[in-house]
Amino acid sequence: RRLLRALAAAALPGPAGAAAHGPPRVRIRLSHVVARRTPKGLALEHFRTRLQALSGGEIEVEIHPNSLLYGDEDEMQALQLGAIDMVAPSLSKFGPIGFPEFELFDLPFLFDETGQVHRAMQGAVGQELLALLARQQLVGLGYLDNGFKHMSANRPLRAPEDFAGLRMRIQSSRVIAHQMRALDARPVVLSFGETRRALAERVVDGTENPISNFWTQRMHEVQSDLSLTAHGYLGYAIVVHQRFWEYLAPADRELVGQALAEALKWGNAIARRENDEALAALRASGATRIHALDAVQRQRLRHATRAVYEGLEARIGPEWLRRMRGAAA
Ligand code: LMR
Repeated sequence: RRLLRALAAAALPGPAGAAAHGPPRVRIRLSHVVARRTPKGLALEHFRTRLQALSGGEIEVEIHPNSLLYGDEDEMQALQLGAIDMVAPSLSKFGPIGFPEFELFDLPFLFDETGQVHRAMQGAVGQELLALLARQQLVGLGYLDNGFKHMSANRPLRAPEDFAGLRMRIQSSRVIAHQMRALDARPVVLSFGETRRALAERVVDGTENPISNFWTQRMHEVQSDLSLTAHGYLGYAIVVHQRFWEYLAPADRELVGQALAEALKWGNAIARRENDEALAALRASGATRIHALDAVQRQRLRHATRAVYEGLEARIGPEWLRRMRGAAA
């Protein structure tokens, strides 16, 4: 249904705004699931502005945020069908569509700080992961940060025992599902767009996400406790279909590449600040209790989720894991 709506919308002329430069020659339709005021929302806006400037208004990026056009469940399909040209899903969403290797980024307590993540992404492992996307005629144009994930529920989550029996909303990653089961919680895969309502209606008891997503979705209004576990990383890959990439004239492709490279660099530079500001805003709102974890508490959670590594290793082989660990060291 959504696909039909989008195909119909794609046939309509683009929004006003572009009029100052005359009609754009190329239009790139981009869909994502988070709010505008998030690291991803802002970086993609930056991409739009830079590309408009670099192309003298000839290449327009049309952004559909907040799952308005497509949600997690159908944005990849829309990309494959050509109903949309560019998506930026979290790395956790590539497993179910045939790329379990991307779940390396989901491993709990693999990274302690963003510098390690960047070394892995920019090194051979990160680049080879993007290259895997060619298996499905996709082109990975780069990585973008959100930040470290924390856990929320209607109780503090500071120790493995605190998770017992909780229904935790997760993204569609088997590594994250395993992580929750290792903590004796019950993972429930839900699309991002459905999560806040599911929390409000107590369909699920808790979830994990970086603070910018909690804050902009106002999840704190329906969760009494946020525990700063920083147990895993959440980032994105920017993806287009080969068909679209080859359809672009070489000079346009170069401009898109340049604007995107600048936007991703800018996005990675502001992501941490956006999450810090979201945490400050969340604290100031007083709507939810915030719990810091000490090193011993994090170590217990780390220990409780160790088996997740073996599970992924069994699926993708030891080599990927060894290399990812090496790159992050
Ligand atoms: C989620 O589904 O929790 C996140 O992947 C949303 C996003 O894109 O940041």
